[in-house]
Amino acid sequence: MSRTAVAVAHPNIALAKYWGKRAGAGNFPAVPSLSVTLAGLATTTRVALLDDLTEDRLTLNGEPADARALARATALLDRVRRAAGTSARASIESTNDFPTSSGLASSASGFAALAVAAARAAGLDWGAARTSDLARRSSASAARSLFGGFAELEAGEENAGDDVVLSALPVAPSDHLPMRVLVCVATEGAKAIGSTEGMKATAQSSPYHDAWLREGPRIHGELKAALLARDFEAVGTLAERSALAMHANAIAAGMVYWSGVTIEALAAVRALRARGTAAFATIDAGPHVKVIVRPEDAALAGTWMRAVPGVLRVIECEPGEGARIIGDSEQANGGAP
Ligand code: PMV
Repeated sequence: MSRTAVAVAHPNIALAKYWGKRAGAGNFPAVPSLSVTLAGLATTTRVALLDDLTEDRLTLNGEPADARALARATALLDRVRRAAGTSARASIESTNDFPTSSGLASSASGFAALAVAAARAAGLDWGAARTSDLARRSSASAARSLFGGFAELEAGEENAGDDVVLSALPVAPSDHLPMRVLVCVATEGAKAIGSTEGMKATAQSSPYHDAWLREGPRIHGELKAALLARDFEAVGTLAERSALAMHANAIAAGMVYWSGVTIEALAAVRALRARGTAAFATIDAGPHVKVIVRPEDAALAGTWMRAVPGVLRVIECEPGEGARIIGDSEQANGGAP
């Protein structure tokens, strides 16, 4: 017996950043976050549940995944198996059409696509909210990629139990505030420090972490209000502030995700703004600067950012759809995965 489902998910970029986890199990964020889901970058994941497999298998971009990636996928699959009452192992094939694990939010789209495909393959009739909670347990940012347009994830309670459900919530559809996100690719390689490790080190040794835990929720609240009021400049200003506060906090703990290209690109965004274009920078756990602009400024800003030394290419993204199933099937006799 084999049950197969294929899902597509897009990365999301946090405008109000999540950085830091609540104490205890369950992967609950310490601050609320608000993101925009992007079209133009995608993870496609195929999950086949097979009765005759003895362990889960995972390929990422056609290559067998390392033990750590496989263990994270298995942890998600174990939750699905428990809920569905099955012990079938999974053959998982996941491909990204953009650099993996380099701060381009591949864990967000990766775990969103895996959660959607795994739940469907196991026959679970879970809606987006329940699947978002499943994705959050693997990567909190992934919870937001279940939804298109603008989505938020509240902070969790301190020491919340594993039975507590926390899903991302849709805030506004993709056409609510016209914008483009220009991803300025600074490296095609994988990042040195994963976000979980970076958050842990920041919480342990940054002298600014308490300030961030106060500032993060404040920025989130203001940014959400600005978004709902369709105030593009305020959204951009607050997004840049959130990213810089997050990184100031991380850098103070020695967690430096930036490269020289990041600084050059950040300076270029500010120079563009000084010339009168409403352009704002955001940066995740990697060296790439993402530029938030109005659609009518995207061509100019793209040309401007491509001229920055070290920027390898610029990917223009518009707000996109949430994670979704693109195919499923059930075969009585197993069949090749
Ligand atoms: O969900 P994770 O573990 O991939 O962490 C995401 C952290 C940031 O991308 C830097 C911020 C965010 O809110 O997405």
